[in-house]
Amino acid sequence: MWRTRSCGAYSLLEITGLRKSYGGTTALDGLSVSFAAGQMVGIVGRSGAGKSTLLRCVNRLIEPDSGGIVYGGRDILALRGSALHDWRAECGMIFQQFHLVDRLDAVTNVMLGAVRRRRTLPLLFKIFPEADRRRAMELLERLDLAAQSGQMVRTLSGGQQQRVAIARALMQGVKILLADEPVASLDPENARVVMEALRGLQREDGVTVLCNLHQLELARTYCDRVIGLAKGKVIFDGRPAEMTERIYTAAV
Ligand SMILES: Nc1ncnc2c1ncn2[C@@H]1O[C@H](COP(=O)(O)OP(=O)(O)OP(=O)(O)O)[C@@H](O)[C@H]1O
Ligand SMILES: [Mg+2]
Repeated sequence: MWRTRSCGAYSLLEITGLRKSYGGTTALDGLSVSFAAGQMVGIVGRSGAGKSTLLRCVNRLIEPDSGGIVYGGRDILALRGSALHDWRAECGMIFQQFHLVDRLDAVTNVMLGAVRRRRTLPLLFKIFPEADRRRAMELLERLDLAAQSGQMVRTLSGGQQQRVAIARALMQGVKILLADEPVASLDPENARVVMEALRGLQREDGVTVLCNLHQLELARTYCDRVIGLAKGKVIFDGRPAEMTERIYTAAV
């Protein structure tokens, strides 16, 4: 835990005055928010509110026009080269469309997480240290995917693919996981299983999870805190139970 300068409270990730525009479109309009370690936070808001842009700025997939992102005292926007690479390993992302390597099996996809962490490229995907394979198998087992470890990921169900992506993030050693609508393309049962897996990361591994969601119900069930975004700004920040349908409707 780190003490932040601005509010005196302990905060892990502090975002201040973040701005990002695309031509005439303002995606983030001076957004400020901070996150404590080990929270599971739902981010809700209507399409175009800036949810994906926010997560991508934190991961440095997008460069904001101005503002600050500080994580554990580190100025994230100033990171370059290997320090930036390390940050991207520490701060994993999962996506609605999974972003796995389709033509590889589940266990190899998980082992690729270790490659990200170590900054070395495997010469051949089949050559991994035995310890990596064991760890990847443990993670797949934990996510109830042991039976699918040798299956090409393109043949797995959506919920299974998303759990492979979560296992890969664990293999990568993430401290904070940014999940951009991780259950948007899943049926309710698979959505439940994936949300449970994300909550497991938070509770058992102490990973901070920021999760863009479309359904308030999911945020209510799984998150400690909900942030409502509209037009690139935070318009609600509180406990899920405090976000009434009225506020939610105003937000989305
Ligand atoms: N690469 C881009 N070029 C131009 N405009 C963009 C780009 N990326 C995002 N935008 C615009 O920025 C605004 C915020 O987009 P963003 O994807 O962050 O919204 P979102 O809240 O994630 O929406 P959704 O719920 O539909 O995923 C939108 O108006 C979008 O059209
Ligand atoms: Mg989005």
